[in-house]
Amino acid sequence: MLLVIDSANTENIKKLIEFFPIDGVTTNPTIITKENKPFLPLIKEIRSIIGEEKMFFVQVLQEKAEEMVEEALYLKKEIGGNMYVKIPVTVEGIKAIKQLKEQNIKTLATTIYTPMQAFVAAKAGADFVAPYVNRIDNLSGNGVQVVKEIVHIFEQHQLPCRVLAASFKNTQQVHQVCLEGAHGVTAGPDVIESLLSHPSTESNVKQFIHDWKLSYGETSDSLLNTH
Ligand code: E4P
Repeated sequence: MLLVIDSANTENIKKLIEFFPIDGVTTNPTIITKENKPFLPLIKEIRSIIGEEKMFFVQVLQEKAEEMVEEALYLKKEIGGNMYVKIPVTVEGIKAIKQLKEQNIKTLATTIYTPMQAFVAAKAGADFVAPYVNRIDNLSGNGVQVVKEIVHIFEQHQLPCRVLAASFKNTQQVHQVCLEGAHGVTAGPDVIESLLSHPSTESNVKQFIHDWKLSYGETSDSLLNTH
């Protein structure tokens, strides 16, 4: 199961890559604009931080299939490495996904709100679909249920497409899509950090060190200098 950072903030990406078992980075045009940096140098910097092998998902901006394909080829040439082009699941987007499949460019179909959008994208040749869990919840839908149904459809019909669930606001949503068989999640740095944090874990660790020092003395702050 994949754990991917949904951010273009280089400081956050550096920190998470150092401490967490991260498989890659996703961005979208809104995420990119939050950094207030020139586009190409920013995505090249992210690629150099994460290396050539981690997955990097960058979204096209154009709305017509031919122009999406042109942007996809540009991104592939400029960024290189293990690269996925994000294409929205519009009619033009599906046409672009089909064309990119023929050219062996890997794609992720994004802005997925329904299982049928995911089905069409998978049939067109997308390598991943990204259902927007929290945005579906905000529309009074059930994001986790949408993920569950997409996973079921892909398994039932042996569609070779993976579900990278996206758009999370809390740990509970991530937990639920893990249970429902999503192949991966992409979440913002705050949500990824919250997957690990628990006040009891911190207080337990402090207690272990406190007990140790009570027994072996204040200077025994490591196993290496405890005799
Ligand atoms: C990922 O592919 C999407 O761009 C992203 O997860 C959307 O997340 P948001 O709903 O938090 O903006």
